[in-house]
Amino acid sequence: VTQKAAALRSRGLDILSFSAGEPDFDTPEHIVAAAEEALRKGQTRYTATAGVPALRAAVAAESQLARGVPATADEVIVTVGAKHALYLLFQALLDPGDEVIVPAPYWVSYPDQVLLAGGVPVIAPTQAEENYELSVSTLEKLVTGRTKALVLNTPSNPTGSVYRRESLEKLTHFALEAGLVVVCDEIYRDLVYGEATHVSPLSLAPRDKRDLVFVVDGVSKTYAMTGWRIGWGIGQSDLIKAMTKIQGQEVSNPTSFAQMATLKALDGPKEFLKEWLAEYCLRRNLMVERLNAIPGLSCHLPQGAFYVLVNVKKVLSAMGPEATDVTLSDRLLDAAQVAVVPGSAFGAPGTIRLSYATSRQDIEMGVARLAEAIHRILAT
Ligand SMILES: Cc1ncc(COP(=O)(O)O)c(C=O)c1O
Repeated sequence: VTQKAAALRSRGLDILSFSAGEPDFDTPEHIVAAAEEALRKGQTRYTATAGVPALRAAVAAESQLARGVPATADEVIVTVGAKHALYLLFQALLDPGDEVIVPAPYWVSYPDQVLLAGGVPVIAPTQAEENYELSVSTLEKLVTGRTKALVLNTPSNPTGSVYRRESLEKLTHFALEAGLVVVCDEIYRDLVYGEATHVSPLSLAPRDKRDLVFVVDGVSKTYAMTGWRIGWGIGQSDLIKAMTKIQGQEVSNPTSFAQMATLKALDGPKEFLKEWLAEYCLRRNLMVERLNAIPGLSCHLPQGAFYVLVNVKKVLSAMGPEATDVTLSDRLLDAAQVAVVPGSAFGAPGTIRLSYATSRQDIEMGVARLAEAIHRILAT
């Protein structure tokens, strides 16, 4: 869809895109200035493989503050985006045939990264009506002698769901008791709205089981720094050492001046975030209200990240037995010139994902176009 949207756009068509997986805001000025300063000071050489020591220490300190669990610099690896932290983790952790439980809908990279490490992704279903939270009873049925890890992503891409404390507590305790490594992808942790609060499984883990928890985080989403490619992993120091060995052979280190900018992001002012959150919240409300007003579509109010997962099963039935979320997304691009992502990509067939990291004006216009196109589909 993205490629087709780009091709149509290059032919001069006015495509509205709800497919973005990144903030539409610019990186705050003080962070850009820190990168400039680092460049001028000559911080343009290789750094330590696991990241600049000051940044590792800053990440540890921030994590301690946010999650209430002590962390030290040697429990941190700075990576080329949160994605590479996950990749390195699976490479270091998994033996061939090891199983990793991935709740669906899932972020696209988890199953493939597990496969790349020789592991076996085991997909665990969740339901919209249950806030897309994995239940202990579902997890229990999937754990085998080969299960090595469980991936939890809260707030979630693509559902926007944020785990409630009680359900997360039960799930974390069960997984840790079963000896699983709990991989917490917390890249959207700062982007939560209304009553919801982000809770980290790390802060729920019993003290003697903390070594089994691995946190992945970074600056991409919170600070609008997707292109800078800086993320990190926080976990048991031997695991961090193993990941560092692999990182050393793959990329040597994350980009030097991007690390210095990240240090500024963590230590600098955070006021901009309040404004961004208020804007995301308005966009979310607008998009969900307009989408739910379209006959044939339904979606829940997501509590975090910047995505809405929309149930399109009624529209698909009207299109005929061959119709899928992929053919619908294609048709919406052709007929409405609106780009959305088919839910099949996230293990959620019968849905489409819309991102509201775009202006309210585009949301109004794009959803109106969708309404018209869907009205026509249902009328035929
Ligand atoms: C759930 C989730 N985890 C990780 C990432 C990767 O983040 P980064 O850009 O820092 O590699 C993304 C990016 O879309 C994401 O949605």
